[in-house]
Amino acid sequence: MGGPKSQWLTLSITLALASLSASTAISLYLWKRKSKPTFSNGESSKKIEQLEASLKGALAKSAAERKGRIRAQQALREALRSPNSDKLESSSYPMAPIAVVHSCFSTRNGTPRQPLLVPLAKATLIFDSARIPLPSLEGLEGYSHCWIIYVFHLNTDLDKLWKHPSQSKFKAKVRVPRLNGDRIGVFATRSPHRPCAIGLTVAKVEAIHGHKVLLSGVDLVDGTPVLDIKPYLPYCDSIQGATVPDWVKADNILAVASVNFSEGFSSSLAECWLLVEKKSHYASPDEFQSLIRQVLSWDIRSLSQRSRPHQPQLNTESDDDVEKIVDDFSRVESCREDEAFENGGELVSSLTSDVVYHLILEGLNISYRIDSNSNVLVEKVTLASLNSKSR
Ligand SMILES: *[C@@H]1O[C@H](CO)[C@@H](O)[C@H](O)[C@H]1NC(C)=O
Ligand SMILES: *[C@@H]1O[C@H](CO)[C@@H](O)[C@H](O)[C@H]1NC(C)=O
Repeated sequence: MGGPKSQWLTLSITLALASLSASTAISLYLWKRKSKPTFSNGESSKKIEQLEASLKGALAKSAAERKGRIRAQQALREALRSPNSDKLESSSYPMAPIAVVHSCFSTRNGTPRQPLLVPLAKATLIFDSARIPLPSLEGLEGYSHCWIIYVFHLNTDLDKLWKHPSQSKFKAKVRVPRLNGDRIGVFATRSPHRPCAIGLTVAKVEAIHGHKVLLSGVDLVDGTPVLDIKPYLPYCDSIQGATVPDWVKADNILAVASVNFSEGFSSSLAECWLLVEKKSHYASPDEFQSLIRQVLSWDIRSLSQRSRPHQPQLNTESDDDVEKIVDDFSRVESCREDEAFENGGELVSSLTSDVVYHLILEGLNISYRIDSNSNVLVEKVTLASLNSKSR
């Protein structure tokens, strides 16, 4: 025996053994690989514990820092309230304007009594690029209107009001043209002469270019410092069924009968236009003329100018009262009074029965008359001579 048959058998057994060991080696290797994580399990959970501990530490530290920060902020608020926290007037909150208004209304005289009354009234809000980063304005273009909180910076008593609040006196009651000059509590009006000379208005957002926001329907005078703007939200800012006193309802009481332009008006405007068109909010003399029509379609004269149009040199004994006269909802009226007294030159009386009034828009001086039936005749345009006081 020991023939080829047994040799074959031996060979096949050897091969089988060899393949067995090979497959064992492979599965052993695989097992080793698979179980590798199991080997370091101990190390890894230790690491996780360490990480968790250090995260906990960091969180505790940041919570402590936060607490410290809040404590510091509270201390600062307290310090701002001191020395006598019982007295409200001794606390102050420093707020610097974030923007300035470049408005078509060069002076207080003619600035509308309410927002949106003059749809063509344009202004540019120029934000302080040093303090207000561009992304702060991102998204504002999605709203049609915005609120504007501003300072009545032309109030003659502003300085006293803010520097020495305890010494400054404000009138508790102000005169209201819609009440024929009767007085009403200052907080029932939008008089600029209030203990805090802060105004609130709404305007249409036309466009945003970098740090400039173009607005329309404004009732803001050129140079107005702006403290804040906020989007107008119709769903909560417009209140259905809100009520107002009867005197406020008297609509159109100050609308004029007609506005007409003299023959020479167009040529005098064309002449001046060349000098102002570059910095104007208006694209053409025609658009500017539409603005004039809109502004003058409301009697912009002060109460005293209306009641005594032929006595522009009013007795000064009632100066103080006159300064506090305000319009209906409104605030500009008393400014106009100030102005009439500060400048004197805002109205020019002639010996005939006619009085020529002047309205300054976009740096242009517009002369007009108004007759006893409230028909306005716009006569001519000249270049205004503006100084800071005439604003
Ligand atoms: C002014 O224009 C209106 C039309 O808008 C006209 O009815 C009125 O007669 C004019 N008034 C004067 C004084 O020309
Ligand atoms: C506007 O013109 C009138 C008359 O020419 C003048 O008295 C008045 O001072 C002028 N106002 C401004 C601001 O230029």
